[in-house]
Amino acid sequence: MLITAALPYANGDLHLGGIRSTYLPADVFARYCRLQGRPVLYVCASDEHGTPIEVNAAKEKMKPDAFVKKYHDRQEKDFQKLGMSFDVFHRTHSEENHVLAKRFYDAAQEKGVLFTKAVEQTYCPKDERFLPDRFVKGTCPFCAAADQYGDGCEKCGKVYSPADLKEPHCALCKTVPTKKTTEHVFFKLSACGPFLYRYLSETNLQSDVVAYVRNWLSGLKDWDITRDGPYFGIPIPGRKDQFFYVWFDAPIGYVAATQAWCTANQKDLADWWNSKNEIVHFIGKDIVYHHYLFWPAMLDTAGFALPTRIPTRGYLNVEGEKMSKSRGTFILVKDVLARFHPDSLRYYLCTITPNTTVDGNFAWADFQAKVNSELIGAYGNFVYRCLSFIVKKGGTIPPLGMKTELDAAFEKELSTFSDVVAKDLDQIGVKEALEKIMAFAAKSNKYFNDRAPWKLTDQSELDTVLHLSAKAVFALALALSPYLPFSSGDVFAQLGVKPKSWADLSPFKAGPTLQDVKPLFARIEDEAVAEEVGKMKKSG
Ligand code: MSP
Ligand code: ZN
Repeated sequence: MLITAALPYANGDLHLGGIRSTYLPADVFARYCRLQGRPVLYVCASDEHGTPIEVNAAKEKMKPDAFVKKYHDRQEKDFQKLGMSFDVFHRTHSEENHVLAKRFYDAAQEKGVLFTKAVEQTYCPKDERFLPDRFVKGTCPFCAAADQYGDGCEKCGKVYSPADLKEPHCALCKTVPTKKTTEHVFFKLSACGPFLYRYLSETNLQSDVVAYVRNWLSGLKDWDITRDGPYFGIPIPGRKDQFFYVWFDAPIGYVAATQAWCTANQKDLADWWNSKNEIVHFIGKDIVYHHYLFWPAMLDTAGFALPTRIPTRGYLNVEGEKMSKSRGTFILVKDVLARFHPDSLRYYLCTITPNTTVDGNFAWADFQAKVNSELIGAYGNFVYRCLSFIVKKGGTIPPLGMKTELDAAFEKELSTFSDVVAKDLDQIGVKEALEKIMAFAAKSNKYFNDRAPWKLTDQSELDTVLHLSAKAVFALALALSPYLPFSSGDVFAQLGVKPKSWADLSPFKAGPTLQDVKPLFARIEDEAVAEEVGKMKKSG
């Protein structure tokens, strides 16, 4: 099971959007597969090339390579704090990626899917460089707003190309640009229609996405994979001062990351990247074209195994609006983690992310309500009530004793619980499985209340209730461990167990002595939420 998550641009700190659509679902799935005892490799990397990176590096007065390294390291820290269990977090500006990009390019050339064509572009004679969209500024041809970028107007929202700008000038030196023609290499995607048609039909891909990707097949356009220098990217072999477009080398970064892990662990790339394995790419819906069309075509051309699943999630809005820096709705991972438990964020994001491309909404009041009433109310409180009660009774989990009908019914439910959850998780139904786990938490709570062990006088009966309740705590923590790795670890420590797999549930035994039992989470107070909402208003 080779699992990848779309590579974040090394362009800024991580925000909640990518976590919700991409990294968290992939992490839950990877952790679940490991729990099932499957060999899993979960790889990611930062995406470090391209014009926006160059522009932002210049804004921070840094060289691109230092700039991307800085954000690679910061993102890696945030990912760690959020409990992302990558086996490797690599980089596209790496030796492996350079070597592999050349391999993909050579293979495409051999197969005859590359051709060249003259392309006219905006050029600054003073800087002696081509000016991609963001490097040309001018007056909007639609609303006459001054100082707009070459790809669209921020004032009226219209999209156009640099050639349409009125009074165009170089964003670097203000010189009026000229035109210059160079020869670019294109990937003949238009010839890949039959292959892509077959791939989409024969692979178990997400059906709501395939439905609209099919519509694109009739209009496949050849793909310009060339950018003229200076460009922060990988040089195209044999072509002077030309580089691969960032979207050519970015997905190759999945292979490069896998290769880097293999090298570090003395394994073969072919053991992982082959057609006997599942290859699963987690992505957000804005990069469907690249992953459902370009990438399979590139892989097929280079003779690499194809992705077997491409789970695709929608966008995250904040308080009902598009995430935006100027409105203060662009929430960074590190800011949330500075104040709240990482599992509370993981829990909440999973509850708002179904197995489809629908968008989700992050709202602070909803976050507070779900964490307080579900995560703490239904789960955390049950764990604490049950375990602290056992501590009061001596601190050791007793063996099963006499069973009433209620006990037998609950025991039966416990025995099928993990299968019920696994069914959804096998289909990458992360939210769906979580709902079943939480429903079982509610049932466990009810069982504990109905059996009211504090009222029981018969030792054997009491033993049964405590045994089954403790087993339910263990089962819940185990099933939740892909979602809530930190607090599940706490529960295991309190129980004095170290489970490795899903199968550890059935042989759950009496005997362990509870350690250091305390509540798992602190409630989220109104003041904290009011403060976060206030921060948004202030910057908005
Ligand atoms: N670098 C590309 C991916 C290359 S994969 C070979 C990229 N990077 S990104 O940083 O913009 O996005 C990383 C992931 O987060 C992508 O899966 C993207 O779809 C997702 N999202 C980015 N912004 C998002 C939201 N606001 N909401 C949900 N997901 C979003 O794309
Ligand atoms: Zn305009």
